[in-house]
Amino acid sequence: MELILTENYDEMVEKAFSIVKSLVVTKPDAVLGLATGSTPLGLYKLITQDHKECGTSYKAVKTVNLDEYKGLAPDNRQSYAYFMRKNLFEHIDIELCNTNIENGLAENEKAECERYDEILKELPRDLQLLGLGSNGHIAFNEPSTPFGSTTHVVALTENTVKDNSRLFADASEVPRKAFTMGIKSIMQAKKILLLASGKNKAQAVLRLVKGEVSELLPASVLQLHPDCITIVDKEAASLL
Ligand code: F6R
Repeated sequence: MELILTENYDEMVEKAFSIVKSLVVTKPDAVLGLATGSTPLGLYKLITQDHKECGTSYKAVKTVNLDEYKGLAPDNRQSYAYFMRKNLFEHIDIELCNTNIENGLAENEKAECERYDEILKELPRDLQLLGLGSNGHIAFNEPSTPFGSTTHVVALTENTVKDNSRLFADASEVPRKAFTMGIKSIMQAKKILLLASGKNKAQAVLRLVKGEVSELLPASVLQLHPDCITIVDKEAASLL
């Protein structure tokens, strides 16, 4: 795993942006695995700005997102489908039909997970972007998720519900379940780019970089990936 330390959040997303841009420029039909949450917002702003100013095109790019809350429709403002449209897709020239995310409203969980695994098979990712949970989760793969997992439905831990409640009016509104790409599926991406920023990620970053590979810290599996870049700002790296 290659570790890049940056002075602050802005430098972290600039470095991530240059990796994404060079991929899209050299391979205009690249498949990108995308993440939601606070961490990639600055990266999505840079992609938008560069698209507007330099014309980098996403017309042939395809995307697959990591996860979606169960029970939320794509037009619900708290859904990850809505997040992606508002924070990235509506600002670039990507075709919405080339973007993929689990269907939060799917009644049949098993069928939806199988549908998504088929999409992942058909669209081998050139790059998978990841944020890091303060408990070491990647996507919604919480501690103790098997490394062999594919797309599945998870019950979110209290820790994750608490972390995510800042984006809802009240913690009671945070959905308790989500569809998520599994750890095995994440590891199948050709290249992985994990970003971590802020003091509340420091413990997870320490265990990710220096701890043992263990299902107790899902992100530690990335130590086994042949091409994983982890970009961490000063605060998140403070325990290293
Ligand atoms: C988001 C996701 C999550 C987040 C993680 C960090 O699609 O899968 O694993 O990446 O919870 O969230 P932030 O960036 O909000 O700290």
